[in-house]
Amino acid sequence: MDLPSNKRILSAAQPTGEAHIGNYLGAFKQWVALQDAGNDVCAMIADLHAITAPYDAATFPNTTLRMAALLMAVGLDPKKSVVFIQSHVPAHTEAAWLLTTITPVGDLTRMTQYKDKAKKQKTVGAGLLNYPTLMAADILLYQTEIVPVGEDQTQHLEFARTLARKFNRQFGKTFTEPRAFVLEETARIMSLTDPTRKMSKSDLPASRIGLLDDPSAIPRKIRAAVTDSGTAVNPKKLGPALTNLLTIFATFSEKPFRDVAEEYAGLGYAVVKSALADLLVDRLAPIRNRAEELLWDHGELQRILADGAERAATLANKTLVTMRKRMGLLLPQNE
Ligand code: TYM
Repeated sequence: MDLPSNKRILSAAQPTGEAHIGNYLGAFKQWVALQDAGNDVCAMIADLHAITAPYDAATFPNTTLRMAALLMAVGLDPKKSVVFIQSHVPAHTEAAWLLTTITPVGDLTRMTQYKDKAKKQKTVGAGLLNYPTLMAADILLYQTEIVPVGEDQTQHLEFARTLARKFNRQFGKTFTEPRAFVLEETARIMSLTDPTRKMSKSDLPASRIGLLDDPSAIPRKIRAAVTDSGTAVNPKKLGPALTNLLTIFATFSEKPFRDVAEEYAGLGYAVVKSALADLLVDRLAPIRNRAEELLWDHGELQRILADGAERAATLANKTLVTMRKRMGLLLPQNE
């Protein structure tokens, strides 16, 4: 993987349900690699985005903390990167409001994710419609250069770029124009039960491997995963299900896809599945153990997140003051 260095990176995940290997391969793995390549990474838990869909307020604080622990467990180091909770930095909501004033409603109603999610909800809150504007605020506040995401977020990123250009044109250069960083091979990890749909936190548990899944659940889910017609691997004729399983295999074993496909050529699907299950159990164990260790001490986790929020707020507030000035808002005397 060819990685940039010395760039400002921002990425985020919603604390909805348990994060899965799609999130890891499509996004988290790249965040860690970018951090380790000497970039300046802001990693955010997007709780304000998560509450635009139905959720359980009683368990939400815990879900949010689990996502924070998980991000650190996959390798985000709070000494090197800024790890924080979106709602702990009020600049996000204020910047989002300012940006809504230049956001055409038609652009929001045309967003694919909005249309998909709106179909599933009885009443559609305005928060769901404004979701991409809040996401643009997240990105633009940090003068972000690169945003590592899976394929499903690229439309939102394009929206943020358009908004940045529009603001800069209208009020003077304020924002850096961010670009997406998408790894083609893992940009869209598919569901285990339906390889025509992406693996998703909101789908049935059998359709995904959670990063914190019990090790006993992994072989069961992989064994039950849908395969293509046929019984043995034919690297020249791979269907969507085998392509997905082998992509997961190749990425976790850090081998090229072609090599893995050749290695299993002619062998039965059950053999591939059994090897994949072993590999996943092995690779996910340290993540799960580390997350559990971190979750032992909520106080320490909260301290890390408070430090992250303070560092994030310093960066974000600087851009927010510029936005307010450029938009002609009268600043209070002390600013
Ligand atoms: P979220 O929480 O849905 O997902 C987090 C990251 O995981 C990627 N991803 C996948 N990649 C490959 N295959 C899959 N099946 C798969 N499923 C999810 C997502 O593309 C994402 O990169 N709106 C964002 C959160 C957000 C954000 C931001 C992201 C809020 N503000 C600012 C970037 C920048 C979301 O819902 O991600």
